[in-house]
Amino acid sequence: MKVARFVGARPQFMQVPPLMEKILEAGHRHILVHTGQHYDANLSDVFFRDLGIPEPNYNLNVGSGSHGKATGIMLERTEQALQEIKPDVVVVDGDTNSTLAAALAAAKLHIPVVHVEAGLRDFDRRRPEEINRIATDHCSDLNCAPIPRALQNLANEGLAARSVLTGDVLLDCLIRYEARFSKAVQERLKLAPGRYHVLTLHRPENTDFEYYDRFCDIMGAVGNIGLPVIFPVHPRTQPILQRYIEEHGGTGDVRPIPPLSYFEILGLVSDCEAVFTDSGGLPREATWLGRKCVMLFKVETWHDLLKNGWAQIGMTDRASIEQAFERSRPADRDAVRRLFGDGMASQRIVDAINVHIH
Ligand code: UD1
Repeated sequence: MKVARFVGARPQFMQVPPLMEKILEAGHRHILVHTGQHYDANLSDVFFRDLGIPEPNYNLNVGSGSHGKATGIMLERTEQALQEIKPDVVVVDGDTNSTLAAALAAAKLHIPVVHVEAGLRDFDRRRPEEINRIATDHCSDLNCAPIPRALQNLANEGLAARSVLTGDVLLDCLIRYEARFSKAVQERLKLAPGRYHVLTLHRPENTDFEYYDRFCDIMGAVGNIGLPVIFPVHPRTQPILQRYIEEHGGTGDVRPIPPLSYFEILGLVSDCEAVFTDSGGLPREATWLGRKCVMLFKVETWHDLLKNGWAQIGMTDRASIEQAFERSRPADRDAVRRLFGDGMASQRIVDAINVHIH
């Protein structure tokens, strides 16, 4: 079979190699398409270089724009690419605008779609990712759920017959690359193990100007815990951070730095005391590495992390973040990893493709 794999945003790049390897081992062809949603070198190129991902066969060079505009351009260019590639199956993952555009374009051309990381729900339809997930799952011919809760969500929406539990490809990545995680950042910044925290923020609800008060609360709470807080800044967060610095004269214990590579961020997280984040990937990675984790957004997706006390939720007011940090304990890494599979998700996905897609 000719498999077209679509990626476009940072969290999708590291998931290319494990699945690509299994697709090739099964005797299929693998065509990689980069939509160009993330184009900055430190959000895209560095991942390709570090992880030895081959140059994409196609780059749609879509770039940034409003959701409608960016998704619309992607849809049109994806359709053109699919007409040239003529794949037997399209594989998408996650919940970005690239995911939705590729799934929708393929479904309309009657090309079977496989959705990796399917079935996750926040039950908050104001989030762009939630709309992308729901629409992609319903366009897909095969939904690969990373955890049992996701499989249940799919069944609740009538998608059980097209859904399988595979485990989480992000865990495959962590296990595959763990030995290569880098200590470069902590060495450069002279940070002792366990004596610093990590902060990441990029969700619109925490970083758009209309939520400036919330951003200030987060910065105030994490900036006063008494340890340095290393803050790799996503480009979309830069403008609100700039305003904060101008109005507050600085960032206290928070130390903003440029975005990090996959090996650098996970190396940094491996040695930290706690992670504060609104990312969907980092809470999983932090707890798989046995760290404390405070999630800075209302989240149903990773309910199991909260239910088991492996992570805490600090909404976004200052007191709740401080209390969440006080409650947080290092996660039981083996137990958390078991919930997300055994590092063999990629193999299970390819097995499921071989059975379900003809
Ligand atoms: C996207 C995903 C989000 C994912 C995140 C990981 C959607 C709806 N959101 O969010 O689910 O968690 O990626 O990073 O798909 N920008 C740059 N350089 C780039 C890319 C973006 O400066 O290479 C800036 C631009 O100002 C752009 C903004 O970031 O407008 C937002 O980019 P976009 O791709 O729309 O969403 P992310 O916030 O990156």
